[in-house]
Amino acid sequence: MARLSETQIDEVRAHSDIVEVISRYLPLKKAGKSFVTTCPFHDDHNPSLSVSPERQIFKCFVCGEGGNVFQFVSKYENLSFLESVLKVAEYSGIQLEVKASDLYQKPVSKYDKEHKLLKEAIAFCRYQLSTQAGKPVVEYLKERGISPEVQEAFQIGYDPGELGTYLIKKGYKADDLIALDLVKDFEGGLRDSYANRLLFPLFDANGNPVGFSARALVAEQSPKYLNTGETILYTKGDQLFHYDIAKKKSRSEGAITLAEGVIDVMALYACGIEAGVAALGTALTQNQIELLKKACDTVRLCYDGDPAGRSAAYKSGSLLFEHRFKVEVVTGLNGLDPDEYRRKFGNEALRTLVSRPLSWIEFLMEYLLEKYDLNNFSQRQDYAREIVGRIALLSEEFDQQSYLALLSEKTGIEAAILAGLLPKKVKTVRPVIVKKPRKRDTLLAEDTLISQMLQNKEAVGLYQQKLDYLIHPIPQQVTMVLMNYYRTHDTMVLADFLSMLQQEALIDYVLHISESEVLSAAYSPAIVAEAIDQIQLAAIDASIAGIKSRQIMSASDEDARMAKISELKKRRHELVGKRI
Ligand code: UTP
Ligand code: MN
Repeated sequence: MARLSETQIDEVRAHSDIVEVISRYLPLKKAGKSFVTTCPFHDDHNPSLSVSPERQIFKCFVCGEGGNVFQFVSKYENLSFLESVLKVAEYSGIQLEVKASDLYQKPVSKYDKEHKLLKEAIAFCRYQLSTQAGKPVVEYLKERGISPEVQEAFQIGYDPGELGTYLIKKGYKADDLIALDLVKDFEGGLRDSYANRLLFPLFDANGNPVGFSARALVAEQSPKYLNTGETILYTKGDQLFHYDIAKKKSRSEGAITLAEGVIDVMALYACGIEAGVAALGTALTQNQIELLKKACDTVRLCYDGDPAGRSAAYKSGSLLFEHRFKVEVVTGLNGLDPDEYRRKFGNEALRTLVSRPLSWIEFLMEYLLEKYDLNNFSQRQDYAREIVGRIALLSEEFDQQSYLALLSEKTGIEAAILAGLLPKKVKTVRPVIVKKPRKRDTLLAEDTLISQMLQNKEAVGLYQQKLDYLIHPIPQQVTMVLMNYYRTHDTMVLADFLSMLQQEALIDYVLHISESEVLSAAYSPAIVAEAIDQIQLAAIDASIAGIKSRQIMSASDEDARMAKISELKKRRHELVGKRI
């Protein structure tokens, strides 16, 4: 198996930009010299992840996650370090001599067999649309305005009731078909689960097929939509329809658009809004919220235009807003669902409507008019209270103030009075992850030494001459990597050094040292020497204590022990003398 050399890895790192790469995954906002965003590695509510273009590293102030561009991609995408190097090379248009296939074997997914079976099923059902039996279905799709392009993009198909038979003839096992809910065991015979239905394949976040949403073709079929039951690949509420594509498109569209129905997602797609998803017959679940969080911080709700749709938008929007999404709501659908609206008014009309959503607070101001009667004084107060409660969650002072002004206009209550309803500002102190107390002198000395070695190759030389060991395991391991690094590099580029640290604990430690103000002293041989003496002293003390605690077996043992202690004490004395 080929490998990437250190030089190649450094080259990819140097030709990539961590800001550009991270912004492919998360929206970055400029904040001083850095960029910030909400951290994807813990349940973050404020933008706690900071990306430094200067240092080419990222770091979360809250959960402590940090590293260079490769470590971000590897952590975010769950890739190995080398896979992440290849990915970044691809992003940055860098040609590597090594082919991906030489470097690693694409890990065989645990569910390769299942995915293959589902792909075969999808292909069979797609093919049915070109057969005689599929004619009425093609007609149905045409009537519904679902173009061949959309059919292709969504891999739409039809099962005339022969799917199970076909797959078994191809050599697949009945048990496997049953396990994926393609067929059901029915009094000894097998029956297709979605016979005579239109099939919309479902894919997971990586684009692997996991099941189907199957729509009735005639009114007598019930239910209207039948989704795959619980299988090893599909759990109700765990997935969002069309998420794999929407996730990629949401960056350029600036939002992920959440609709109620799968057909609505197709309607959006048909009019150029490709970052559409739907929840597949459940209220928004925690899992689906996590998926949305990974895609985009703006969710545009495009629910049905009827009262049920508005109420659902209120519920989902409230939940998303509490999870710190920027929430937008498409209104003006005239009581129709997005698909009906498109068919009645055309693609361009739907597109325009979706591009002019209300902000979450604007939507609330409108929606809550249905719940409160503003002509009644106390209801007007309740209306104001409920909305100020939401305004309080906005992070920008400007947004808060302008919505208060708008609310003041609507209610006739002075803005200053409304502002009084906002919870008093508590100065928020960023919870900094406090590492274990590093008060003990030896640790501080070791930290100091590492900090010096991170600044200058010479410090490593001094260390090797005079010490060559450290007491604590993490600084000791980092030192080994440092020696390795300086064999091929003359100066320290932190982002490159990080590539060589493969353990999270080591990365965290190095980032901690390199950012610590206590350890910010510039390289100086005197500081290195002082730290080395201190570590030696601690090592001597530890040896003395160790020897003293040892069990004595014989008189000669005792003599040897005393001799050793006195020798150590002498060395200790020399060291202390030198220090005074
Ligand atoms: P709707 O009943 O609003 O259907 O269900 P729709 O999107 O307008 O569909 P068409 O236009 O009649 O074809 C919205 C979503 O709820 C789920 C489906 O995912 C559907 O897309 N649903 C609906 C079910 O899971 N089961 C059902 O019986 C009905
Ligand atoms: Mn519909």
